[in-house]
Amino acid sequence: MFQRLRQKWKVNGLQLFLIICTFAIGGSLTGFAGRKLMNFTAVEKGWLWVIIYIILITLLWPVSVLLVSIFLGQYRFFVGYLKKIGRRVGIGGQEPDVRRQKSEAGRETVINEQQTTSDPFTIHIAIFASGAGSNAQKIIDHFRHSGHIKISLIICNKPGAGVLTIASKENIPGLLIDKEKFFRGDAYTDELKEKKIDFIILAGFLWKIPVVLIKAYPGKIVNIHPALLPKYGGKGMYGDHVHEAVINAKDKESGITIHYVDEHYDHGDSIFQAKCAVFENDTAESLAQRIHFLEHEHYPRVIERILTKSLKEKRN
Ligand code: GRF
Repeated sequence: MFQRLRQKWKVNGLQLFLIICTFAIGGSLTGFAGRKLMNFTAVEKGWLWVIIYIILITLLWPVSVLLVSIFLGQYRFFVGYLKKIGRRVGIGGQEPDVRRQKSEAGRETVINEQQTTSDPFTIHIAIFASGAGSNAQKIIDHFRHSGHIKISLIICNKPGAGVLTIASKENIPGLLIDKEKFFRGDAYTDELKEKKIDFIILAGFLWKIPVVLIKAYPGKIVNIHPALLPKYGGKGMYGDHVHEAVINAKDKESGITIHYVDEHYDHGDSIFQAKCAVFENDTAESLAQRIHFLEHEHYPRVIERILTKSLKEKRN
C-alpha cells in the first residue's frame, strides 16, 4: 500500500512518512479544536450537535493539516492535495473550460483555458506531443506535486491524439496547432510567451521544430529519441521505423537518447543515453515496449535535473 501511495503521490519514503504524520496530527488537532469550539455553543448533545460538529470539523480539517504541514515541511504537497479535493467537490479551483476556436487556416484549435500564474521561480513547461502521450503522462505524474516545475501547456499537431485527452483529464491547457502558423508564422511563440513557457519538452512530437522557435528558446528545447543517436536518427526515423531499422541491422543493443534540439532532426547535443538489449526474436513492437520502459523511467528524471539546474541559475 505504501509503495502504491509513494508512486501515486510521487514522493520518497521520508516524505510519505511526514505526509502520514501530517494527516494523523492534523486529524487529531481537528477533533480537539472541534470539541473545544462546541463547548462554546449552547447546543445540547444530540443530532443538532452532531450536525454542527461535522460541519465544523469539515471546515477545520483543511486548516489544521495545512498548519501541521508547514511544521513538517509538506506545505506544498498539501496545498496541491487540498486544491485537488476542492476541484473534485466543485470548489476552490477551476475545471477546464474547454474552448473551441477556429484558427486562421480554418483548423480547429482546442484550448483548456487557464491563467498561468507568474511566479518568477516557477519553471513553466510546454510538452509537445503527437501521439498517445505515455511519456507526457509520466512527466505530468512526476511533477504533479512539484512546487517549482509546472506543466503549463500541451501542444499537439494531431486532432484526436491521446495526449489531448490527457491534457483535458489533467486539467492542463491543450493547444491543437496549425501547420501553416507553425512553419510559416511565428511558430506559436506568442502563445508560448503568453503562457510564460520557459522550457519545451518534446515527447513524441513528429513535426520538425522551426528555427524561429529554436531561436526563441535557445538551449531550452529537449527531445527524446527511441534509439542510440547518432544511429537511427534523421527525417522519417520515428516510431516503428526506428525499431525496424535496428532489428534489420541485427544490432545487439538499442536504447534512448535525450538531447537538446537544434535545427536538424535528432542532432543537438546529447544529454543522456540508456541502453537495452535487442534479442534475436524481437519485433518492432516488443523492442518498442522495452524502449518505452526506459523512456518512462528516465525522461522525467533527466528533465528534472536540467530544470533544477536552470532554476538555480534563475535564482542566482
Ligand atoms: C517515444 O518512443 C519517443 O521516443 C518518440 O515517440 C514516442 C512517443 O510515445 N519520440 P508516447 O506518445 O509518449 O507514448
